[in-house]
Amino acid sequence: VPPPPPGPPAFTGAKLVNDKAHPFKPLKKGDVRGPCPGLNTLASHGYLPRNGVASPSQIIDAVQEGFNMENELARFTTYVAHLVDGNLVTDLLSIGEKTRKTGPDPPPPAIVGGLNNHGTFEGDASLTRGDAFFGDNHNFNQELFDQFKNFSAVYGNGFFNMTVAGELRFHRIQQSIATNPEFSLVGLRHLTAYAEASFPSLFFVDGRKTGAEAGQLDMATAESFFRDMMYPPDFFRPAAPVAGDAGAIFLAHPFQPGRNVGGVNNFTVDDSLGSLLDFCGFYENFVNKTLKALYPNPKGVLRRNLNINLQFFFESLPKDESGTPVCTQVFPYGRN
Ligand code: HEM
Ligand code: MG
Repeated sequence: VPPPPPGPPAFTGAKLVNDKAHPFKPLKKGDVRGPCPGLNTLASHGYLPRNGVASPSQIIDAVQEGFNMENELARFTTYVAHLVDGNLVTDLLSIGEKTRKTGPDPPPPAIVGGLNNHGTFEGDASLTRGDAFFGDNHNFNQELFDQFKNFSAVYGNGFFNMTVAGELRFHRIQQSIATNPEFSLVGLRHLTAYAEASFPSLFFVDGRKTGAEAGQLDMATAESFFRDMMYPPDFFRPAAPVAGDAGAIFLAHPFQPGRNVGGVNNFTVDDSLGSLLDFCGFYENFVNKTLKALYPNPKGVLRRNLNINLQFFFESLPKDESGTPVCTQVFPYGRN
């Protein structure tokens, strides 16, 4: 039975995370890495299993310990990913390619593709990874990183910060609209595209930096995380739990969810899977459409674990001041 997710750790201040107990080690044959520079780094330093295959609980512990990710964000991101890309029977998720290391697959149309799978969690217009249409959606892309550096030079005085993130996020969307006939930024991807753009300056800057230095990511450090999957020497995690800031990035250049229909430069608004602007619409459609398409008629342990993971996912969703969930829970597979 999948265990309930870990809560927040007792200590949530800055601390050395590139420590003796977590040395960087180069990849061994068969080790899996993927589109997320945060998880790649955690695996290469042993906060996650070094082979890149982990349970949701291991991932939540690792992102909290290694990057001080705030507990609700950690649970939300992890269960979203696990529900669509993980093996719900074995409770294992690959942070990259599909692999037999997650165990026997449930019947199709389930994919269990790992985080590399395009269109479930991974999506277009990433900052340092190409669109799946161009053939590689998960490896570090030097051309895109050169653009990341150019934007940091022009808008951030040589540093990647929230201003640069707002500009580059918008530019990557325009770039994909103009070049990728299959460009899509709908539902979950509309949300993650903005959230993830806020992550570099919030998570990858040493937690001891204060004042004018806070939130300013230098290029050597950026390269260390994005390309090398490595903490800089002596790196301290953030000084307080980080919940991300999709809103700040979005407000710099608000852009609707949508996709190219019938070729490049044919962006069409599409809010049929919800978006950052319609969070409960995202939740309901993610469960009732996206997940139901992968698991139309689950039986036995699979159905039980789907319901358990759906419950953990729902518990990570936003609450109002009185602690009441903002969205109404949906039960595509019944209530137990
Ligand atoms: C991107 C998963 C935690 C930083 C991604 C992507 C996935 C993912 C699937 C690819 C999306 C795309 O760009 O197409 C996860 C999961 C997490 C997690 C399941 C579990 C909590 C973190 C943490 C950090 C982080 C803790 C930072 C320390 C990033 C960044 C990107 C990204 C910066 C964007 C990369 C780019 O645009 O080139 N993540 N992530 N993630 N993630 Fe994570
Ligand atoms: Mg992507």
